[in-house]
Amino acid sequence: MGNIKILGGRKLSGSLRIQGSKNAALPMIAASVLHNGKSVLHNCPQIADVGYMTEILNGLGARTWWEGKSLHLDCTHLRYGQIPSVYAEKMRSSIIYLGALLGRFHQSAIAHPGGCVIGARPIDIHLQVLKLLGAHIREKDGMIYASCTQLKGNEYEFPKISVGATQQAILAAVKAQGVTRLHRCAREPEVQWLVRYLNSRGADITGENTGEIVVRGVEQLTDLEYEVPPDRIVAGTYLCAGAITRSKITLENVPVEEMESFLHMYRKMGGQYEVNSGKLLADSRELNRAVTYLETDVYPGFPTDLQSPLMAVLTTVRGVSHIRETIFEDRYKAAEGLQKMGAAIDVNGQDAWIYGGASLRGARLKARELRGGAALVLAGLAASGETVVEDCEYIERGYEHICEDLSALGGVIRKEE
Ligand code: UD1
Repeated sequence: MGNIKILGGRKLSGSLRIQGSKNAALPMIAASVLHNGKSVLHNCPQIADVGYMTEILNGLGARTWWEGKSLHLDCTHLRYGQIPSVYAEKMRSSIIYLGALLGRFHQSAIAHPGGCVIGARPIDIHLQVLKLLGAHIREKDGMIYASCTQLKGNEYEFPKISVGATQQAILAAVKAQGVTRLHRCAREPEVQWLVRYLNSRGADITGENTGEIVVRGVEQLTDLEYEVPPDRIVAGTYLCAGAITRSKITLENVPVEEMESFLHMYRKMGGQYEVNSGKLLADSRELNRAVTYLETDVYPGFPTDLQSPLMAVLTTVRGVSHIRETIFEDRYKAAEGLQKMGAAIDVNGQDAWIYGGASLRGARLKARELRGGAALVLAGLAASGETVVEDCEYIERGYEHICEDLSALGGVIRKEE
């Protein structure tokens, strides 16, 4: 496991280009199995989770390769096979292969992904919607087996809004017979991008920004080259890096229209920004207001993935901030590390109170999960002295080049193997 070492207390400055989106790319990779042919994803982030998704495909007989930042997927000779626990455990979102492979082979099998560090993360809704579309599901010895003679369009209302289960349903419905009507769908940009991606290659899906999605089954899809959109969570994290160091930075390739709730909060805290020909110029020099109350929520609400990075920033803002995490039960893993650095944080169930304004000091910490780990790196940028964040592989699951990116902005940060 590697460590990230940060020498804190430096202002950041300069400009940075935002990477392609992990959460948009992963379902696009899964969707590629629906087509007996080629897919190319330009600007695809070269991160571990993308690697696991392509390894799964390789194991099923696909050919996958990189040309620069473009990921090539040739699923012409894909064959049916089971996805073993080594992948399902490492990467929960591999579960969406279940619906996609069912669409291609009328059968699929994957190891149960199990619990996860930020909460129980059940997959009951994923399985429920597949059943409704005609899949027979059987669970045995830690494996989930799905099969059908033919998936058939149906009507389903999600009992809870879920990004992954909405994507699962779409993937299964694309080549199903007839029309599928999905109610109470997730409206996250990553659902919308999946729909655009599939429609660009011959699928017939509407309503992706309304929560009411209609999928009319088609017989086949076409080859496609597609640009992965920029990552709104990485953009938000780097904006938090500017905020925690009270710096003025420029971010390029930012999906500003997908970041309204976050930018609204940034402004309320005293951050200023303007958007100029695709660039976000963010000035955090006057950022000094605590957040009276903030709830994470489904899109277009405040994203749970930016809750920990924001918490790190709030530890440096004088006054009491109150956060409520409503999406995952156990997503305050970063609080412990921040406390070790001198932050005053009280966590009680889904609520966290941050008594901000104490100066942070460098410490030796452990990343426990992706976004919480990134929050510790941000805190390290603002802390006095040296911070070491151990187990940085968690962080690298979502950030392609976090050390290089923050160094490019003037941070003193490097990775140690
Ligand atoms: C996706 C994102 C993740 C983000 C999350 C919420 C990817 C790869 N990951 O995760 O970064 O934090 O959306 O925006 O895109 N649930 C059930 N049963 C199910 C499915 C979900 O109870 O079958 C619950 C979950 O435990 C959670 C809530 O629904 O409490 C929302 O989860 P969901 O939207 O499904 O998150 P993911 O798709 O796993």
